[in-house]
Order: sequence, then C-alpha cells, then structure tokens
Amino acid sequence: MTLLRATDVYRFYHVGEDETRALRGVSLEVRAGELAALLGSSGSGKSTLLACLAGLDDPDGGQVEVASERLSRRPEAQRARLRAEHLGVMLQSGNLFPHLNVLENVLLTGRILGKPDEARAHELLAQLGLSGRLAAYPGQLSGGETARVSLAAALAHGPQILLADEPTAEVDAATEAQVTQVIGAFVQQPGRCAVIATHSPRLAAHASRVLRLKDGRWQDA
Ligand SMILES: Nc1ncnc2c1ncn2[C@@H]1O[C@H](COP(=O)(O)OP(=O)(O)O)[C@@H](O)[C@H]1O
Ligand SMILES: [Mg+2]
Repeated sequence: MTLLRATDVYRFYHVGEDETRALRGVSLEVRAGELAALLGSSGSGKSTLLACLAGLDDPDGGQVEVASERLSRRPEAQRARLRAEHLGVMLQSGNLFPHLNVLENVLLTGRILGKPDEARAHELLAQLGLSGRLAAYPGQLSGGETARVSLAAALAHGPQILLADEPTAEVDAATEAQVTQVIGAFVQQPGRCAVIATHSPRLAAHASRVLRLKDGRWQDA
C-alpha cells in the first residue's frame, strides 16, 4: 500500500535576482513498512523535500499525496487537517510550543483531532526516557531532551507517516540510540512508514531504502 507519493516536485526559491532550484523534479513513493533514509550533502534539498511532503511548503510544480489524498495546492486549513490526520512531523527546530509543558506538547495534536491518547503519550515518553520530565517546559530541556520530546509529539497521535529532518543531529549517542529504536519500532507497526533525513550511519542502518539527493534531484537520476 502506497502511503506517500510525490510526483515530479519542483521548488524554486527567489532571493533578489538569484534563483535557487532546491528541487528539480523529484518523485517518490513510500509504501507501508518502509523506512526511507534521505541522504545528501547540505543544500541538496532534503529539508525542502520534507517540508513539501509535510504540506508545510507548497511545491511550485508537481504534487504530493498522503494516503491517496492530494496535499498540495490546498488551503492551509485543509493541509493542516490532512497533516494532523496522517502525518507526524519532526523538524530540525520549532516543534514544541514554549508555553506548553512536555506532556501537553505531546498530547496537542491528539487533542486537536479530538482523540488524545494519554496512555500512548506516556508510553512513548517512557520509551524515550522522559517520564521524569512531563511537567518541564521546552525552555528547560537540553538539546537531546528537546529532540526526544519532539519525536514523541510527532508520534503520539498515531500517524501513518513519520517525516523527520535530521532527528539525531546534535544529540548524544544514548539519545541517538533511543530515537533510532523508537523510529524502528514505529515502522514495524502495520500500515506505517517513515522518511528520515539523516547523516547518522546508525539510523541509516535501520532503513529499508536509502534515497540520495544531489542538487535537488535523485543522485542516480
Ligand atoms: N527559504 C529559502 N529561501 C531561499 N533559499 C532557500 C530557502 N530554503 C532553502 N533554500 C536553498 O535551497 C537549497 C536546498 O536547501 P535545503 O532543502 O535546506 O537543503 P538540505 O536540507 O539538504 O541542507 C539550498 O541551496 C538552500 O540554500
Ligand atoms: Mg536540511
């Protein structure tokens, strides 16, 4: 079953006179059970592709479908609903609301969907070694704790698709191992998949597919 499909996605940025062709015709199909590692040097387009797959950015050409529904070229409110229903998204920063504590952040998407799963939230936070930090606020967390809470927040509402942008950048080896384990367990549940931009050999070793971007295209294309 294909859960995520990108068809011929283009994204160009314009700054003054300059044009950056961040994505130049990228297509991708991710099926249930797959963990796709997205590799590529800095500037190759990984974050731009993940933002388009998440519907946080709209491609200039081509389209993205999640669970057979078109995500691209829709009003933001509809994209937000599809994102909450189907996707768990972990960006490199800005995943947590500073005025909500750890548990409230992790429960937030579930609450918006009207089905907060407190048991699941506590289970994920325990797996990530965060049971003692439920009442902490994001400003009180270390970098590694922030990454783990962000992962729990991306997964607690039970999405089908996890999109994560360098989830183990700037964390210690113990956190990298916990994050890798939780992502690995997530994709082993039926009907789940993940696309993870990463430089981590440990995380990439869990991948069922390795995708390489270079200058906004698949490297072997
Ligand atoms: N908001 C933006 N405005 C202008 N250029 C951007 C913007 N975001 C990304 N880019 C450019 O697009 C290219 C791809 O960036 P990005 O997707 O962040 O790559 P990666 O995540 O692989 O490092 C880079 O050349 C980057 O400078
Ligand atoms: Mg990036």
